[in-house]
Order: sequence, then structure tokens, then C-alpha cells
Amino acid sequence: MGKTNAVPATLLTRIGELVTNEGDLGSFTAIDNAALIIEDGVIAWTGPSSRAPAADSFVDVGRRAVLPGFVDSHAHLVFGGERSTEFAARMAGRPYAAGGILTTVKATRAATDVALRANLRRLVNEMRGQGTTAFECKSGYGLTVADEARGVRLAAEVTPEVTFLGAHVVPPEFTADVAGYVDLVCGPMLVACAPHARWIDVFCEDGAFGPDAARTILAAGQAAGLGGRVHGNQLGPGPGVRVAAEAGAATVDHCTYLTPGDVDAIVSSGLVATLLPSAEFSTRQPYPDARRLLDAGATVALATDCNPGSSFTSSMSFCIALAVREMRMTTEEAVWAATAGGARALRRTDIGHLGAGARADLILLDAPSHSYLAYRPGVPLIAAVWQGGNLVSGSP
Ligand code: NIG
Ligand code: FE
Repeated sequence: MGKTNAVPATLLTRIGELVTNEGDLGSFTAIDNAALIIEDGVIAWTGPSSRAPAADSFVDVGRRAVLPGFVDSHAHLVFGGERSTEFAARMAGRPYAAGGILTTVKATRAATDVALRANLRRLVNEMRGQGTTAFECKSGYGLTVADEARGVRLAAEVTPEVTFLGAHVVPPEFTADVAGYVDLVCGPMLVACAPHARWIDVFCEDGAFGPDAARTILAAGQAAGLGGRVHGNQLGPGPGVRVAAEAGAATVDHCTYLTPGDVDAIVSSGLVATLLPSAEFSTRQPYPDARRLLDAGATVALATDCNPGSSFTSSMSFCIALAVREMRMTTEEAVWAATAGGARALRRTDIGHLGAGARADLILLDAPSHSYLAYRPGVPLIAAVWQGGNLVSGSP
């Protein structure tokens, strides 16, 4: 490999466990004493070390585990301020209310571009160092045409997976005219944001947007070429799942309160159920019933929901540990959901796995197997991270 063209090939060898996620939906494949070859930013070959082809350079990883990079398919990273006081009050017994979002809207509107960009980049670096090699980023803390457009523009500087979330909550200046705000979101705000976004999202919940408004907003976004995503069934049972399924959205996120009909709708529509256990951790809510979804055949993704209110973590490892310990996902299911599941939630086939031709986004763990991510919670186990074949964090 690498002999006949100018692109040098790198061989990673003596991999204790190589998680490739190759094969059918939901499959988790791990090879012992494996090797892989990176060439031109993609995975050129995987297999047993004993059969590895020659390469220009090689790295002996000493029987440690190699995984696909994490795909964090749900994050709100463009914001000003923080809400630690609200978190502390919740831990002292106060319930979570979506109203806290407006505190961040105020701080975000008041922030300069420079401050928002610096905060965003700090979080992106934090994510990368913890093994996240692809991520989605939402607007949703601006809620004016100019502030939402600024949100998606900044997000587009750091990821192609940008989501327009003008329908996060109704801002205070529209409290008496919710229909007027929906018109704004579907009209001038969408026109300003769609060129910078790939997705549209709506928070379909009591205290945010009802099913009719959510349908209208998703349809307008789809007519503008954006794919649909829904925040639903987070704070109580509700119409979010059904609205997402009917609209042909890619994913419904949170899924904390599901009826049997909701589970059926997720499975039959092919919606990805994106579970965000760090939000339940931080809001002291019950965890979603991942077992019921998985046993019914749903495709499950895990993501951080990183935001200053309900889930201020950028750690996919933390989400995996919660999913395993608190949601009864197996270690294999949790790692698959944090990698291949996230890719499915973003309708991407080039990331989330390490099959030949995949983007060379991978993590070297300072551990012999993926299970250590839950077995050793809170321990920084990410030794090195490659993105598109480039070492971007740590050292092997
Ligand atoms: O995903 N559910 C709606 N939005 C965020 C919360 C954002 C916030 O509290 O600032 C979420 O949990
Ligand atoms: Fe969210």
C-alpha cells in the first residue's frame, strides 16, 4: 500500500480490540490483535495484524483498543453565559423547566461574535480531545432573524452538520403572538438561516411548540431543503415522536417519556431515537427506557445535548457510562449508539464505522477494550484521536 502513489499509508498494528461497526444495522464487530491502514484520509484496510500489508509508516499501539471516533449528533454549542446557579438549585430540589432557555437567549443576544466564537471553539476543542470527531451544532439561543443567522453562521465555521433551531422556545417579545413567531421562523428567519444549515429542529413540548406549529415549521424547513429533527417527549408524554415520524424527520431526540404507540411509530417510521442521558442526569429526570426501544428494533443514537442549561457536558464517554449503568444498554450497544448510531442520526455513511472507505476518524483508548469506557467512568481514557487520518489530539 502507498507504494504506487504519493499518499503515504500509515499502519496501526497490534490493536488489542478494533471496533469497526461494519455490517448490518446494529452490528458491533470487534477484531482481536488487529491492524488498520489509513491512506489519503480514509480507512484503506482492516484485518488481523498477521496479514497486514506493508505501509510507509507504522504505529504499534500495544494491544490497546481502537474505536471509530464518537459522532455527537445533538449539541447546542453557540451560546453566551452559563447557568450553574440553575443547576445547583435543581440539585437542591427545584424542577427543570424549559424557561431557563430564555436566560441563555438573553446572554447570547448580548454577546459579541468574538465571545460566541471563542466559547464555541473552546467546546469544540474539548469535544475533540475526548474523542468526538463529528458533531452536530444547533442555533436556538438567538430567536431573532439576525441572532439566529449569526448562530448558524458561527456553527457552520466548525461543522457541516448545522441545525437551525429558531423554534427552540417562543421569545418574550412574542409571548402574546405565538402564531406571529411561527410565521417569522417559517419566513424571514428560515430564509436567513437555510443557506448555512443542513437541518431544521423544533422543540415540540408543553412550554415550547405544539404539534400544529411543529408540523408547520418542519414542513417549511423541508421545503427549503433542510432535513427534519425534533426535540420531543423530554419533559412528559407528548406529540413529538408522532410529529417527527409523520414529517419523515431523521431523528427524534430525548424520548424520555414514550407510550407503546410512540415506540411503534419510531420503529415503523425508521426514525432514529437519540437518547441524551446526560440531560436526565443534569435535570434529575428518569432516564429513557433504552431497552424497550432496542428490544423493539429501534435504531438508537447517544449524544451529549451539550448546552449550558440541561446538560453541560461534552463527554460522549460519560454518556456511554450512563447508558450502560442507568439505561441497561450493553457496552457494545452503547458504543455503537455513540458512533454508528450518531452517524445514522445524521444520515451519514462515511463516519461512525471503520470499514474500508470510511473517513479515518478514530480513537485509541488507553485500555484494552471498549468496555472500559463504562467500566472506568470519569477516567480520561482517550489516548489519541485521528480525524480524516490526521492525528488531532494526544499521541499514540
Ligand atoms: O435539549 N429541550 C430543549 N432544549 C435543550 C435545553 C436547552 C436549555 O436548557 O438551555 C435540551 O435539553
Ligand atoms: Fe437539545
